[in-house]
Amino acid sequence: MNEAKAVIETRGLRRVFKTRKETVEAVAGVDLKVWGGEVFGFLGPNGAGKTTTLRMLSTLLPPSGGEATVAGCDLLRQPQQVRERIGYVGQRGGSDPQVTGRTELVFQGRLYAMPKRAAQDRAAELLRVLELEDCADRPTSTYSGGQRRRLEIGIGLMHGPSLLFLDEPTTGLDPQSRARLWEEVRRLRKGGTTVFLTTHYLEEADALCDRLAIIDHGKIVAEGSPDELKRQVAGDVVVVGVGGDGRDALELFQRQPFVREAGAGDADGTIRLYVERGESAMPAILRLLDGAGLELKTISLTRPSLDDVFLRQTGRSLREVAA
Ligand SMILES: Nc1ncnc2c1ncn2[C@@H]1O[C@H](COP(=O)(O)OP(=O)(O)OP(=O)(O)O)[C@@H](O)[C@H]1O
Ligand SMILES: [Mg+2]
Repeated sequence: MNEAKAVIETRGLRRVFKTRKETVEAVAGVDLKVWGGEVFGFLGPNGAGKTTTLRMLSTLLPPSGGEATVAGCDLLRQPQQVRERIGYVGQRGGSDPQVTGRTELVFQGRLYAMPKRAAQDRAAELLRVLELEDCADRPTSTYSGGQRRRLEIGIGLMHGPSLLFLDEPTTGLDPQSRARLWEEVRRLRKGGTTVFLTTHYLEEADALCDRLAIIDHGKIVAEGSPDELKRQVAGDVVVVGVGGDGRDALELFQRQPFVREAGAGDADGTIRLYVERGESAMPAILRLLDGAGLELKTISLTRPSLDDVFLRQTGRSLREVAA
């Protein structure tokens, strides 16, 4: 990875949407640096501002404020040059159902002024590496979700961009297609392409990204490698399931000095306790519940996850927001 060179740099990037009823600040001043050759993730709940940011960085939407350099060019002054250097795959795919995958690819190449022969060769190469040869000459309406997503990535790659934007590349895919797409992203990174993707899957951000930014309400609330971010949530997390609505237990835990923070966990009625050392906290937790006559259903010790990072920064669980 070339640490010295930022492929994307934004300063105070903003976007406001005005409708007749209201004004929405979808992106509220974003400062980002994405290094050459890394897979950078943008993680956040619905409506956080991920797509809006991506659309601005790929010249599809003018910013309301701030500035950015993308692929070595000034976003506001050199949008055409930026467009030539990047690929963009939108959240909702844009392939024509009547047309074959191969035709789509060649057409995209022609849009970028590739000679016909070169476009055909490039399309054939992409169909091979994306393992789409079997369905290459069928209308895309017959493709599976995973095949269609891979074709869309192929469309974004036709002109050989050094930077690829992928908006929620795996949303709605089955686990097998998702794994296949992760492989594809890793292959791109190996070939030196910088990938900027958005996701609202914690596991995806954790497994796939070299670094990520967590965005909420248009603002970046945390940024770093998955490990760095998780280390910010020092200590262990004990997840306790109790009988009833859990409110008594939550209050009880919140009063304990060894509990740094206690909050309702996922929607399943569990409580998450942030403690210094899980091993010594567990017996104390059991004694407390026993003494208060509260029923213990489950107890488990986990290391902090990216969801704990989100929870600490926003007071909400990303899983909860998604549910
Ligand atoms: N054209 C528009 N007009 C008005 N508001 C908009 C417009 N586009 C986006 N917004 C609003 O801006 C905010 C951010 O939207 P955006 O699409 O960037 O979110 P997102 O993080 O991509 O969410 P998702 O995970 O659902 O794709 C939302 O509140 C959305 O309703
Ligand atoms: Mg979006």
